Amino acid sequence: MSLENKIVLVTGGASGIGRATVNRLALDGAHVIVADRQVELSNEVVTEIIQAGGSAEVCELDVAEEGAAAAAIKAIVSSHGRLDGAFNNAGITGPTVKLLDIDPKEWAQVLAVNLTGVFSCVQAEIAQMVQQEAGGSIVNTASICGLVALPHATAYNSAKHGVIGLTKSAAIEYGPKKIRVNAVCPGFIDTPMLAKGAGASQEVLDGVVRQLPIRRIADPSEVADVVAWLMSPHSSYVTGVAMPIDGGWTAQ
Ligand SMILES: NC(=O)c1ccc[n+]([C@@H]2O[C@H](COP(=O)([O-])OP(=O)(O)OC[C@H]3O[C@@H](n4cnc5c(N)ncnc54)[C@H](O)[C@@H]3O)[C@@H](O)[C@H]2O)c1
Repeated sequence: MSLENKIVLVTGGASGIGRATVNRLALDGAHVIVADRQVELSNEVVTEIIQAGGSAEVCELDVAEEGAAAAAIKAIVSSHGRLDGAFNNAGITGPTVKLLDIDPKEWAQVLAVNLTGVFSCVQAEIAQMVQQEAGGSIVNTASICGLVALPHATAYNSAKHGVIGLTKSAAIEYGPKKIRVNAVCPGFIDTPMLAKGAGASQEVLDGVVRQLPIRRIADPSEVADVVAWLMSPHSSYVTGVAMPIDGGWTAQ
């Protein structure tokens, strides 16, 4: 197993892409810390993993709360002695409106979770990993909205473009410390977020599918597979990339 005994943090691990990834990393042998603000759902995920023979624990975390990520990582290190990997994935959708109609409070909320929340995690993770001889692997969740813009999603597009800039900056500064930092850019993935997000009526989703070269929405496990690879030694020379997992959406 490629992640045998690795200590790996997953934010937003209670649902959707995070949940699928937690399961996949545990199958690969990692001890997974499921960090989410939804504690009940996180407990459910951890119970499933332990029943299946894996190893996991819950960490209640709101990534947008100042100092919370640093405190969570300090607690992980005091229990486990190190942090080998992290998937900074917690995120929310933004308002589905044109730029002129964005409420500054909604803008601030989307940026606080989707960009500053990732920054706070990355900063605390790297602070720990520079002290470890083995370094570590960090994967951030951006989106196709970090590579191109979708309409009526200015705050979300802006935050996700920021995640890619953050990923590249961290990768070039901390490569010499054996820390790899990459981003995944999912397209349209079948999760609760897609179901409630940006005008996602069946009609809108049917239109999306017609435009997708692969002609279908993805299963979250298809993102988890890529994250597990980026987390593992099999991607040892890959850093600073923003990898689309989008059925060809951004190739058009
Ligand atoms: N589903 C898609 O089509 C899609 C596409 C591109 C990118 N993404 C990104 O993937 C990530 C996961 O999304 P998903 O589709 O699995 O959504 P989801 O809503 O199923 O899961 C998101 C998880 O993040 C948690 N979360 C939200 N805010 C948090 C906070 N402040 N602190 C801690 N946890 C928090 C939620 O409780 C939830 O468990 C997000 O960053 C999202 O922007 C999703």
